[in-house]
Amino acid sequence: MFRHFDRKKFFVIPLAFLLLSLSLSAVVLHSASAASSLAQAGAASGRTIGAAIAANLLGNNPYTTIVQTQFDGVTPGNEMKWQTTEPSQGSFNFGPADQIVSFAQSHNMKIRGHTLVWYNQLAGWVNNVPASQILSVMNNHITAEMTHFKGNIWYWDVVNEAFNEDGTRRSDIFQNDIGNAYIADAFTTARAADPNAKLCYNDYNIEDMNSAKSQAVYSMVQSFKASGVPIDCVGFQSHFIVGQVPADFQATLQKFANLGIDVQITELDDRMPTPASSANLNQQATDYANVAKACLGVSRCNDITTWGVGEPDSWVPGTFSGQGQALLYDSNYQPKPAYTSFLNALGGSAVIPTPTPTTGGGSTPTPTPTPITGGSGSCSVHYVVSNQWNSGFGASISITNTSSTAINGWSLKFNFPNGQTITQLWNGTVTQSGSSVTITNTSYNGSIPAGGTLNSSPGFNGSWSGTNSSPTAFTLNGATCTVA
Ligand code: G3I
Repeated sequence: MFRHFDRKKFFVIPLAFLLLSLSLSAVVLHSASAASSLAQAGAASGRTIGAAIAANLLGNNPYTTIVQTQFDGVTPGNEMKWQTTEPSQGSFNFGPADQIVSFAQSHNMKIRGHTLVWYNQLAGWVNNVPASQILSVMNNHITAEMTHFKGNIWYWDVVNEAFNEDGTRRSDIFQNDIGNAYIADAFTTARAADPNAKLCYNDYNIEDMNSAKSQAVYSMVQSFKASGVPIDCVGFQSHFIVGQVPADFQATLQKFANLGIDVQITELDDRMPTPASSANLNQQATDYANVAKACLGVSRCNDITTWGVGEPDSWVPGTFSGQGQALLYDSNYQPKPAYTSFLNALGGSAVIPTPTPTTGGGSTPTPTPTPITGGSGSCSVHYVVSNQWNSGFGASISITNTSSTAINGWSLKFNFPNGQTITQLWNGTVTQSGSSVTITNTSYNGSIPAGGTLNSSPGFNGSWSGTNSSPTAFTLNGATCTVA
């Protein structure tokens, strides 16, 4: 009897553990499939996640590495504006924008064209054109620019910021010389110039449907749809102040989408007084998550673009004195709490869910993940030099946990073969002694699920001379990794 009981126990208890570990693996596998970049997370639900970028910053790191690894859309921040593209009448300069287009294409990113008709950053000569010629000057500009970029632009901001806060039309050269019809004229010309590009009206302070401006833009789009003026989209710039994302943002997006157009979040940022308090950084994390949720809640919302990458390239500090930290990355291009919450809200959670028992009665113990401690093949490292110049270079390191145990806290070691030195590292903490490098996790990227690849993987800028070969051996928590 006792022998029989003991034997049963001998099998039943391990079986229970086996079932538990199978259910844990299912959870972990689910987590392992979570996206590790904003672009991957957005793509899972068909959204493009973009950033406004500047041609003269391409090549800078970590800026460029972040753009390439986190985003799958770009908007030129200034390079496609009239001031740059037609600085004198009939003389076109597409060089800076071409740089962005070729960068985007070589990284498989979508391009939003910004912007064809706008009162600001307009070439000075336009203001001296006789009123009777402004319509043809506007149409010529649209046609020339769209023809140059034909086939390469996903959505164009055809007309930008044409309304005042009270819903009246902004007084500018186009409104004053052509009249109310200029916006419809611009869209009609744009459709003819590149029939395959989607055409947007783009503005700020239209995210709350109760505002007079939002209602005026809505009425215009409604009338365009009724009369056959070609419009495909409204861009909601979304230059927010921390804690003030309108509660009805999703409802506003849906209201516009119901007109039969796409809606896009085109210039997202969320500013606060600087230096930033942790309360505001946390509120900002909530704000970014709410924006992601608003877009995900509207099937025709297919793009979220942030207006820049990090604090150094943001327009905010230069425009609003004492304000800043409006983007996902901080002054050192480190991801902020907003990055993590935005990624999570997009569905790219790096958090391992706590497993719940599938049957009632009693609680399931939550396992404490233990670091892997030895043995070859329990980790895999992919080291990539993404950029190299004069004496500097940028690199990223992707770490995969190929073991069947979750990692909670990691330390990666390797040796540089040619005396390279890390000068700046993100998504980790580095110590370097001679050629020997140790990188450890930060507070937000310590976990690597079994079978999963680290979210927010470390990257760095370094210096080199002579030769810049990649390290050939890595250990993770003492275990030798395969080099992918
Ligand atoms: O290129 C010159 C440089 O030669 C000069 O030394 C420097 C000194 O002022 O200015 C540089 O030009 C600046 C330009 O950005 C490029 O950096 C202009 O001063 C500056 O006014 C301009 O600001 C741009 C702003 O539009 C103009 O309104 C921002 O970069 C750009 O991000 C911003 O973008 C707009 C969107 O197009 C429309 N929605 C609002 C958004 C934010 O203002």
